[in-house]
Amino acid sequence: MTGKEALETSEAQIAVHWQEEEYYYPSTKFIAQANMTDEKIYDRFSLDNFPNCYKEYADLLDWYEYWHTILDTSDAPCWKWFTGAKINASYNCIDRHLPKNKNKTAIHFVPELENEKVEHITYQELYVRVNEVAALLQDFAGLKAGDRVTLHMPMTAELPITMLACARLGVIHSEVFGGFSGRAAADRVVDSGSRVLITIDSYYRGGALIDHKEKADIAVEAAGKEGQIVDKVLVWQRYPGKYSSSFPMINGRDFFVNDLLKKYYGKRIEPVPMPAEAPLFLMYTSGTTGKPKGCQHSTGGFLAYAAGTSKYVQDIHPEDVYWCMADIGWITGHSYIVYGPLALCASTVIYEGVPTYPDPGRCWRIAQDLDVNIFHTAPTLIRTLRKVGPDEPAKYNYEFKHMTSVGEPIEPEVWKWYYNVVGKGKAVIVDTWWQTETGGFLCSTLPAIKPMKPGSAGPGMPGIHPIIYDEDGNVLPEGAGKAGNICIQNPWPGAFQTIWGNRDRYVSTYYAKYCKNKDSKDWRDWPYISGDAAVDAPDGYYRILGRMDDVINVSGHRLGTKELESAALTVFEVAEAAVVPVNDDIKGKVPDLYAALKSGILPSDELAKKISNALSAEIGSIAKPRNVWLVPDMPKTRSGKIMRRVLSAISNKKDVDDVMTLANPEIVEVITKIVQK
Ligand code: PRX
Repeated sequence: MTGKEALETSEAQIAVHWQEEEYYYPSTKFIAQANMTDEKIYDRFSLDNFPNCYKEYADLLDWYEYWHTILDTSDAPCWKWFTGAKINASYNCIDRHLPKNKNKTAIHFVPELENEKVEHITYQELYVRVNEVAALLQDFAGLKAGDRVTLHMPMTAELPITMLACARLGVIHSEVFGGFSGRAAADRVVDSGSRVLITIDSYYRGGALIDHKEKADIAVEAAGKEGQIVDKVLVWQRYPGKYSSSFPMINGRDFFVNDLLKKYYGKRIEPVPMPAEAPLFLMYTSGTTGKPKGCQHSTGGFLAYAAGTSKYVQDIHPEDVYWCMADIGWITGHSYIVYGPLALCASTVIYEGVPTYPDPGRCWRIAQDLDVNIFHTAPTLIRTLRKVGPDEPAKYNYEFKHMTSVGEPIEPEVWKWYYNVVGKGKAVIVDTWWQTETGGFLCSTLPAIKPMKPGSAGPGMPGIHPIIYDEDGNVLPEGAGKAGNICIQNPWPGAFQTIWGNRDRYVSTYYAKYCKNKDSKDWRDWPYISGDAAVDAPDGYYRILGRMDDVINVSGHRLGTKELESAALTVFEVAEAAVVPVNDDIKGKVPDLYAALKSGILPSDELAKKISNALSAEIGSIAKPRNVWLVPDMPKTRSGKIMRRVLSAISNKKDVDDVMTLANPEIVEVITKIVQK
C-alpha cells in the first residue's frame, strides 16, 4: 500500500468514523488528590522551554551524576538525553524506596488458578531477589554491562525480577512476548546477539498449564543455524523445585534458576552507575518489511519519561494499587507495569492468565480483593468484557479512581460503557496514544486538567508537539479536521535511540520523509514520523485513525503484513501470499490471508490449515489469520504489484471501486465469489 492510497482510505474513514463527542469532567474528589493540577505545566513544556523542561521529569529520579548536556543532537536524529549523567534503573525502582517503604508491596502476583495464593512481594523482598538473580547473571552466566540477553517469559513475577537484575548490571534485556513462537524468539536472539536465553518451564493460560520450555529448544536450534550460539538457557520453574515441562533439560546448556540461586542466597550486587544514554532494553516490533525492528531504549531518558508520565497521566501515588492488564512482553508492560510504577514506589499487579478465566467476573474479583484503584487496559478487552459480562462490574465492591485505554482507537460507545459500568461513573479515563518506539505517551489528557472526550486521545502531552503533514509534506493547519500523517516536531526523552544494529533503517523509517535538511544537527529539521493517520479537532484533541503503513493492529498488538506473508511462503505449496486487515467487532482488526498456489497444486481445507499453522509456528498464535483464502491468482497492477487494497475491500465486503488499472481485472469477481460465497 502506498502512503497515498492509505491516506485516501483514511479520508474516507473519517466520514464513517465517529463524530466529535461532548466533554466529560473529572470529579472534585479526583482533582483534590491528583498529582498534577497546575495548568501551567503546558507553558513550562512549551517549545520555547524545550529541551530544559524535561529536567522536571528527570528530577523524579535519583542520579549518581547529573548531565552536562540535556539534549545532545550531534548525531541527529539519534538523540542523546542527559549526556554525562549516571543512573541505574534497578536502584531507582527498588533501593531508593527501602528506607521508607521496604514493607510495602511492590508486586502482587496473581496466579491464574484461583486456588493458588496471590504472592505479595515487598520492596525488601524484591531487593533481595533481584540482587541474587543479578549475582547469578554476573557470576554464573558471565554477563556484564552492554551484553544483551533474551528473555522469553510470560506474565510471572520472575519476569520483572529478571529485568531488574539485568538493569542492575547494565545488561540490556530483550524480552520476547511469551505467546510468540520459538522461531520468533530465535530471530530476536540472533538480531540482538544474545548468548543467554532466559525462559520458564510452563505457565497457566485459560485453565491449562502451557508447556513453554519447548520454545527455548526451538529458539536455540534455529538461532544456532544462523550462527548465534546460545550457550546457556536459564529456566525458571512455575513451581520452584518441580519441573513442569515434558521437554528434557539439555545437559551443560539448560540450568534451573531456582537450583543455581541457592549458591547466591544473601548476595548483594552494587547497582552499576550507567551512562544515561546506555541502552536499558530492546523491544522488537513489527514494521513494513519482514524483519522485526529492535527498538533500543535508553536508561536515563526512558526511565525519566516512564516515571513522569506514570505520575502525571496515570496519577500514580505510592499508596495506590495499580493494575495494568497489558503483557510485560509488550512496551506497555515495560513502561507501565514495571519501570514507571516501580520508579514511583507503587504496588503493581501482575496477572498470569486470561482476563475472563474462569468467568467474566475475574477481573473485578481481583480488583476487589487487592483494592486496585488504577486500572489500565486496551479497548479489545473492554469490548470483550462488555460483550461477555456486561453486568459483572456492578457485582463487585471495588472503586477505581482512574482508568486508562491504550493501544487502539476506542469507540465512544465502548468508552461510555467503560466509564459508566467499569468505572461506575466515578473514575476518570485517559486514552493514551503512543508506540513501542516512543517509550511513553504522546497524546493523552492530563486527567485533572483537561476534560475527557470519548474517542479522542487528547492533546499532545506536555513537551510533545504534534504536527500533521499531508503526503506532499505540507503542514495541515491546526484544528483542520482533516486526516494526515501525525508527526512529532521535537525529540523527547522516552523516544527510542535507534533500531538495534540498523541506524539506516531507523533514519529512513522514522525521519527521512519530512526531514528538511539531512545534514542538520538541529532537531527542528527532524520531525518524528509515527506512521499513524490522525485528525486534529479545533480544541487541539487528536483522534487517531490507525496505521498508514503495512502494519495491522490486532487487539492493540502490531503485526507486520510482510512478516505474516513471509511465514505463509515457508509452506512449499504457496506461490504468493498477501495479508489484509479486516474489521472486527472485538479485536479492532484481524488479518485475512490470501494465498495463490504453485501451478498444479489444488486448493484444499488441509492446505489452508497448514498455512494457518505455519503462521502460528513462525510467529505465534496471535498471528493466526481469520481466514486463509486459496485463490487462483492475485489482483495485480501492470507492473506486477499485488493490489492489497482490492483484497481488503473484498474481505471487508466493501466496494472494490476502480479495477481498470489492474492487469487482470477479471480475477476480482473470481476472488469475490470465493470469499463472499
Ligand atoms: O496505530 C497506533 C495504535 O497502536 C500503534 C502502536 O502499537 P505498539 O507499538 O504495539 O504500541 C502499543 C502501546 C501503545 C500506534 O501506531 N495505538 C496506540 N495507542 C492508541 C492507538 N490508536 C488509537 N488510540 C490509541 N490510544
